[in-house]
Amino acid sequence: MTAVAPLRWGVIAPTAAIARLAVLPALAASPSAAVVAVGSRSADAPAGRAQAGVGPEVRWYRSYEAVLADDEVEAVYVPLPNSLHRPWVEAALGAGKHVLCEKPLALTASDAAAMAAAAEAAGRVLLEAYMTPHHPRSQAIAAASREVGPARFARTAFTGRMDRPGNHRWDPAMGGGALADLGIYCLAPVLSFAGGEPEWVAAREVPGTDPAAGRDPHAVAVDVSFAGLLGFAGGLLASFECSFDAAERQVLELVGADAAVSCERAHTPGPEDTSYRWRHSDGRVEERQGGGGELYRLMVEQFAEVVAGREEPLHPLADTLAVARTLDRSREAAADGSGLSRATP
Ligand SMILES: NC(=O)c1ccc[n+]([C@@H]2O[C@H](COP(=O)([O-])OP(=O)(O)OC[C@H]3O[C@@H](n4cnc5c(N)ncnc54)[C@H](OP(=O)(O)O)[C@@H]3O)[C@@H](O)[C@H]2O)c1
Repeated sequence: MTAVAPLRWGVIAPTAAIARLAVLPALAASPSAAVVAVGSRSADAPAGRAQAGVGPEVRWYRSYEAVLADDEVEAVYVPLPNSLHRPWVEAALGAGKHVLCEKPLALTASDAAAMAAAAEAAGRVLLEAYMTPHHPRSQAIAAASREVGPARFARTAFTGRMDRPGNHRWDPAMGGGALADLGIYCLAPVLSFAGGEPEWVAAREVPGTDPAAGRDPHAVAVDVSFAGLLGFAGGLLASFECSFDAAERQVLELVGADAAVSCERAHTPGPEDTSYRWRHSDGRVEERQGGGGELYRLMVEQFAEVVAGREEPLHPLADTLAVARTLDRSREAAADGSGLSRATP
């Protein structure tokens, strides 16, 4: 059997928390990946390498442009604040690179559609780094949810305390807010369960400002908590909650006329999160096994397979766009005094 050459990665902002803590370790652990270059605006090589766990074999640049200009780089991972996703994704595609970009891919559905069109025009793979569907238990739950009978209810939540004063998540200009940060985790499994986008969306938000701003009267608020209700054809009703200011909860419950599935730590499952609950129509609850795995590693390995044309993406751009449109409609509903968005776009 011929050995397959690893995909050669460039990482812009290896200093990002998600890069340091999850994706760089996943790339290092994957035989299908080789990180060849990284670029940071702020960190010099010795300190930056130590901070990001990047060895001397990886070229360390002091700009993102230099990573994109590196001919050896085939694919770029983008873990920037949300408002910087579109310009840097388009720059990377323009430089002929495949791109794995952090969630949310874009601030709006129209930005996401423009980025998808840029990838199509460049003939390069662009995917959103939404890792949850790569976990074997998530796939088992998705399969089980197709056996619960006609879809009736879905209940999802991703809440927790965001204790990072001064972080881009508190800045509306950088695409901050709880819905932008956490909404995909709640909406993607619901749209998958529903098999499409909602007919109507109702939503409310609670504004809040960066704790670092103290009592600054000019501090601009983001949605610190956000809740919505979605109505789908066929009668499915789905509620979701996102928050930076509530106890940690990762809820997923998909309810059909005949059975229901649910689990703990639904959105960031670890290798040990293998089981989920199957609730029978008479209320009896059974614990079922769905399997475990390293979800960031599974995600980067699947990206390499998609680039090689050997696999279809588990989270394709069509799903990214459907979630982005539902996020737009949720924001629109919360901004409208009635709390309701327009009907299906
Ligand atoms: N999939 C997941 O599980 C997951 C988890 C967390 C976050 N994320 C996503 O990953 C992205 C990054 O989040 P994070 O919390 O990891 O970010 P972070 O720790 O705040 O780091 C962001 C990096 O972006 C660079 N940057 C460039 N311009 C910047 C600016 N104006 N302000 C701040 N940073 C700037 C900086 O790198 P240099 O200074 O080195 O250039 C910085 O280290 C977001 O889109 C977020 O939604 C995903």
